[in-house]
Amino acid sequence: MTSSPSVFREKLLAWAAAHPRPLPWKGVRDPYLIWLSEIILQQTRVEQGLPYFEKFAAQYPTIRQLADAPEEELFKLWEGLGYYARARNLHAAAKYVANELGGRFPDTYEGIRALKGVGDYTAAAIASFAWQLPHAVVDGNVYRVLSRVFGIGTPIDSPAGKREFAALAQTLLDPQRPDAFNQAMMDFGATHCLPRQPKCSRCPFSADCAALASDRVADLPVKSKSLVRKDRFFLYLVFKSGDSTYIRRREGKDIWQNLWEFPLIELPALPRGRAEIEACIGAFLDLAATPETWQLRGFTPPFRQTLTHQQIAAVFCEIDLLEKSQVVVNQKLANEGYQKNLFQNLKKNIALPRIIDWYLREKTVTYSLF
Ligand code: ADE
Repeated sequence: MTSSPSVFREKLLAWAAAHPRPLPWKGVRDPYLIWLSEIILQQTRVEQGLPYFEKFAAQYPTIRQLADAPEEELFKLWEGLGYYARARNLHAAAKYVANELGGRFPDTYEGIRALKGVGDYTAAAIASFAWQLPHAVVDGNVYRVLSRVFGIGTPIDSPAGKREFAALAQTLLDPQRPDAFNQAMMDFGATHCLPRQPKCSRCPFSADCAALASDRVADLPVKSKSLVRKDRFFLYLVFKSGDSTYIRRREGKDIWQNLWEFPLIELPALPRGRAEIEACIGAFLDLAATPETWQLRGFTPPFRQTLTHQQIAAVFCEIDLLEKSQVVVNQKLANEGYQKNLFQNLKKNIALPRIIDWYLREKTVTYSLF
């Protein structure tokens, strides 16, 4: 019933030929552009990554140009794509290739895998697309396709599962056309063998799909752990001092490293209303609200952003800094590393977390929470 490797390959490649998915990096021969597209597509849907690939490829046509770009510029271009470690690693790897390897992109799997930000999946994708090396890609799409077609219930997040699926994918890979095979696997998983409502009635594997035969399509692949997201509650203080506000670069390893943000108070839960928000700001500034010091102009309903391991809810409060308190507040915030910046610069050339960008676009300031 289940396909032999050669039948599987044939069916998959025939499906791909009948379902062309034109993407700008397909047919590209330059390993640099292939690498760029694969880094951008990590944890990212093709539709979302596509405009970023176009922007980066236009702004930095060569790896040398990317290596020489100022970090801030690169971060600004990356804004909205998330997982900023990718942008940092992209820059570091570009510098390494440009400066240490004389601009020659590595042409072995091991050489590619050694670049910062390149894991097994990305190394296999680049090695096959750029150099036709026989390394099978294995990612969420591939787990789904293989677990279903071959009826494999080993958890995909277990070491045994990872080994089993990697070995199977490698057996199935067409050594003559590893690039076409890998691309077909990605496209088939992303557009046909979907997590929900896969197109089984029009599937080339419907006669040999073990999951379809045993009515387990919805149950495969199996995961042993379900992801638990931690809730976090942020109160961002947007000070209004003329045309300027205060921001600082986020450090630390948890989220949004190197992006800029407003002064932040992290709370155990969302604030319940105006009085609580005013109390938080007063404690943060060590300065009570008075008609001479500062005033809460308003605040937004919570903006929400889901990250891989965290769910962020952020309320933005807008605060007028009055004449009398400006020096004190300025000193206090400067001591904590905050810098005064024009609001208009925030939108133009400073890389911000997406949730802050949403706020700056929407600015739905109200007095009624939730
Ligand atoms: N996801 C990661 N790499 C991809 C590629 N080359 N084509 C489509 N989706 C992808």
